[in-house]
Amino acid sequence: MSIAVCPGSFDPVTLGHLDIIGRARALFDQVVVGVAQNASKNVLLDVDTRLALVADAVSGIPGVSVAIVPGLLAAFCREVGAVAVVKGLRGGADFDAEHPMALMNRHLTGVETVFVVGAPRFAHVASSMVKDVARHGGEIGDLVPPAVEIAVRAALRA
Ligand code: PNS
Repeated sequence: MSIAVCPGSFDPVTLGHLDIIGRARALFDQVVVGVAQNASKNVLLDVDTRLALVADAVSGIPGVSVAIVPGLLAAFCREVGAVAVVKGLRGGADFDAEHPMALMNRHLTGVETVFVVGAPRFAHVASSMVKDVARHGGEIGDLVPPAVEIAVRAALRA
C-alpha cells in the first residue's frame, strides 16, 4: 500500500489545497495531510484550528487522514511510512521554492517529492492572499470551504 504526505501550513486550507489533496489521493492508496506546526511562521490560526478545518474539509474523501507535523517533515514521512511528499505547483515560483526543500527532504531520509500541477482555476489562490483579501473586506467564499471563511473572519476580528 502506498502512502503519501501532503504537507503545508494550511493557514488556512484553500480550495487549491483540496484540489492537490484529491490529485494526490488519485495517485496513492492513502494520503496523510500533514499540518505543520511551523512555530517560525506568523500564523493567523493556531495549529489545532488549522488541523480541524482540514479534517472537516477532507472528511468525505476515503483514504485521506490528517495529522500534525510537529517537527521535520522528512521524519514525519518516515514515521507514517510515506514513500512520497506531494506538493502542488501553481507556477515556476512555486517550483523554485519547493526544489531545495525536496532536495533537503530526500537528503534527510530519502523521501521523494512528487510535484502535481493544480487546476488553473486555483493558480491565483494562496493562503496568504486569502487572508489579505479577507482582512481588507473582500470576498473569499469562492476560495475556501464555508467553515474556513467563518474561522478566518472570526480570527481577524479577535
Ligand atoms: O504551506 P507551506 O507553508 O508552504 O508549507 C511549508 C512546509 C510546512 C511544507 C515546510 O515549511 C515544512 O516542511 N515544514 C516542516 C519542517 C521541516 O521539515 N523543515 C525543513 C524543510 S526542507
